[in-house]
Amino acid sequence: MGVASSSTAAGVRRRLGRSNLSVSPICFGTWQLSPRFWGPQPEADVAHALHRGIELGVNFIDTADAYGDGLAEEVVGRALKPIARDKYVLATKVYWHIQPDASRYPDLSHDYILSACDASLRRLKLDYIDLYQCHSWDPAASTQEIASAMEKLVKAGKIRAYGTSNWTADQLRAGHAAGNFTTCQPPYSLINRAGEADVLPTCMALDIGTLVYSSLHMGLLSGKYKGAEAFTDFRKDHRDFQGERFKMICDRIAQLDPIAKKYSLSITQLVLAATLMNPAITCAIVGIKTAAMIEEAAGAMGKTLSRVDLTAVRGLLAVK
Ligand SMILES: NC(=O)c1ccc[n+]([C@@H]2O[C@H](COP(=O)([O-])OP(=O)(O)OC[C@H]3O[C@@H](n4cnc5c(N)ncnc54)[C@H](OP(=O)(O)O)[C@@H]3O)[C@@H](O)[C@H]2O)c1
Repeated sequence: MGVASSSTAAGVRRRLGRSNLSVSPICFGTWQLSPRFWGPQPEADVAHALHRGIELGVNFIDTADAYGDGLAEEVVGRALKPIARDKYVLATKVYWHIQPDASRYPDLSHDYILSACDASLRRLKLDYIDLYQCHSWDPAASTQEIASAMEKLVKAGKIRAYGTSNWTADQLRAGHAAGNFTTCQPPYSLINRAGEADVLPTCMALDIGTLVYSSLHMGLLSGKYKGAEAFTDFRKDHRDFQGERFKMICDRIAQLDPIAKKYSLSITQLVLAATLMNPAITCAIVGIKTAAMIEEAAGAMGKTLSRVDLTAVRGLLAVK
């Protein structure tokens, strides 16, 4: 199924669903380059982190045309320019049709997909995209129309594979019937396990590779927060980062420490290793701002826990 693994000198690799892509189980996330959500990030820090990740065997990078309205793709493109093309697997997304006044609307129409792909290639300074993902479900586009545009891009050598993000189990089945959608990018963390009910089992059944996002629950599962911090970015409006609930979650996360120590892992690494034990999860995307963050995340690759400890971790993080 989707998580066949191999470990070589270059690092741990997994086959991404039915695509021919061979990727590291930790994927480098770049939504942090969206100032509207995360505040401004120094480009040099992210470029350094990308280089460090590749050095450590993190060959999979996730971005989107919508992150910073093109900024993320531009920063990633500049950072990757000196790196040999076969050293990384680049995933980006299409969906938000951004207008000159910065307003946006969903658009997975045939012609828009073709033109958005060309725009992403220009910003990324690449000849091809490894994985082109539909960022969300467009109620005005049929899966046949989307697949037809994606197949044209494959034939033209502009993309190697295509997939989805934020699609429900039924939407994934409709995509599977219409074309070769080989991946899915759903939200999932050990605090938010809704995907275990339907999306992840559906991916396993259809051999769809999964790259789950917010696997550190937007930073909470790093264990660095104590429950009294005040956020200035988008997290200030998220209920898990506020008041008694924030404190309760942080207290539970702190209780992971003795289990992490047993394996000589940090809490971040313990959580990522536990997440990657799910056979329906091919990769965990981690949003990265600095080299230190990707170094820590990379340390989770190839690590597993006993079933007893996995159960204890899941028990502590079963937050209603
Ligand atoms: N398809 C979609 O709709 C969608 C939606 C969201 C995200 N994504 C993708 O998934 C990626 C990850 O999701 P995410 O950004 O929501 O959440 P995440 O990976 O759960 O959390 C990212 C945050 O974790 C913290 N962090 C990461 N590594 C750390 C480390 N080693 N030590 C301490 N803190 C660490 C940083 O927090 P601080 O900021 O607190 O320092 C970072 O901003 C995104 O970058 C993007 O590529 C996709």
